[in-house]
Amino acid sequence: MTSLADTWGLHDAQFWLRGERPERPVEYDATTGVWNVYGYAETVELLSDHATFSSDTGRLIPEAAGFTEGNLPQLDPPEHQKLRKLVSHAFTPKVVADLEPRIAEVTAELLDGITDRTELVDDLAYPLPVIVIAELLGVPTDDRHLFKRWVDAMFAQTQKFSLVDPSEEQARQFEDALEQVGHLTAYLGEHVAERRRAPREDLLSKLVTAEVDGERLTQAEVVNFAMVLLIAGHITTTMLLGNTVLCLDAHPEQGAEVRADRSLVPAAIEESLRFLSPFAAASRATTREAVLGGQVIPADQVVLPWLAAANRDPAQFADPDTFDVHRHPNPQLGFGRGIHFCVGAPLARLEGRVALNMLFDRFPALRCDPDDRPEFLGSPNLTGVRRLPLLTR
Ligand code: HEM
Repeated sequence: MTSLADTWGLHDAQFWLRGERPERPVEYDATTGVWNVYGYAETVELLSDHATFSSDTGRLIPEAAGFTEGNLPQLDPPEHQKLRKLVSHAFTPKVVADLEPRIAEVTAELLDGITDRTELVDDLAYPLPVIVIAELLGVPTDDRHLFKRWVDAMFAQTQKFSLVDPSEEQARQFEDALEQVGHLTAYLGEHVAERRRAPREDLLSKLVTAEVDGERLTQAEVVNFAMVLLIAGHITTTMLLGNTVLCLDAHPEQGAEVRADRSLVPAAIEESLRFLSPFAAASRATTREAVLGGQVIPADQVVLPWLAAANRDPAQFADPDTFDVHRHPNPQLGFGRGIHFCVGAPLARLEGRVALNMLFDRFPALRCDPDDRPEFLGSPNLTGVRRLPLLTR
């Protein structure tokens, strides 16, 4: 049977999207030298044990080294808690809820530009989250075409990452990604320096002036931290918006139901995060020997918890390959789990809710263009539309 994943041309490596199951919930891949974790229970166990499964992967993946300072997702306790405390107050449900009017305003302006057809990613799904996070940080939103160029190149990787036999292509893509990181850190460095001279009411200024244990963050810490927020704050939300519209289009009865009963929008977003998880895999490094899913994983190994595969685990979700906005409970892992649980989850959920409601209000006949197919990103670690052409009438 042809799955939606085949129809949409999703990456071959993402077998879980085609109704296929792994042989075991935890598998060593000798061709890449990496341990893959696909099971839901095993993924939760791994993400809950940061002492054994460290986030400091730069120790084992040379390409990931060099950006550890201030790079929240790659820090372990106690540094992790200290830095996380600095931003968590900027993303609490209450603080985020206050952003709703501004999110609605930006969405309305973006939708004003749409006539009888739209490419949703360009017109809404990309600009909305990038404008919101740029405004929070305090960097000019007009520079977003620059971020796009730099960030697209960072995620251009199209092959499975290999520690054992890195191809020339992998090396070239990493080199290119590093070059783009360089552009972005130089750009942010200038803004950070400016805030040191003249702080404003924005997140960059807060990071510059904040003290952790009586000490201010270093320049590299502030810049890397801001880079993580800028990147993590938009690419995945872009995917979430596009994926959710696509999933509802592919399931027209549920699409009509959600349009008619908007209280279902948050559940549609959660199911979209489960069904097409934008951030398909996290990464960890073992600090000691571990037993997971009946496998012995030695110390100093790279382990990839595949959140997207865990979200299709039949041991956790009944009919995992069925998109169902009525799935309840839906403990999807699209935002991760444990101490690194996505700090921006309330913001992403809010942006999704506001954008979908306004899209449905404005365009009752919104649907995929049968003559112009959606296109997905080419990375095996991401699941998200890159282009989503829609008809509005
Ligand atoms: C962490 C996914 C939106 C900022 C994470 C993690 C996942 C994730 C899976 C955990 C990574 C790990 O355990 O290694 C997503 C998805 C999003 C989204 C699917 C949208 C649909 C956002 C937004 C922001 C953000 C809007 C910023 C405002 C972060 C940060 C971390 C993180 C800073 C690191 C947290 C830590 O290490 O303590 N995200 N994210 N994310 N996310 Fe998100």
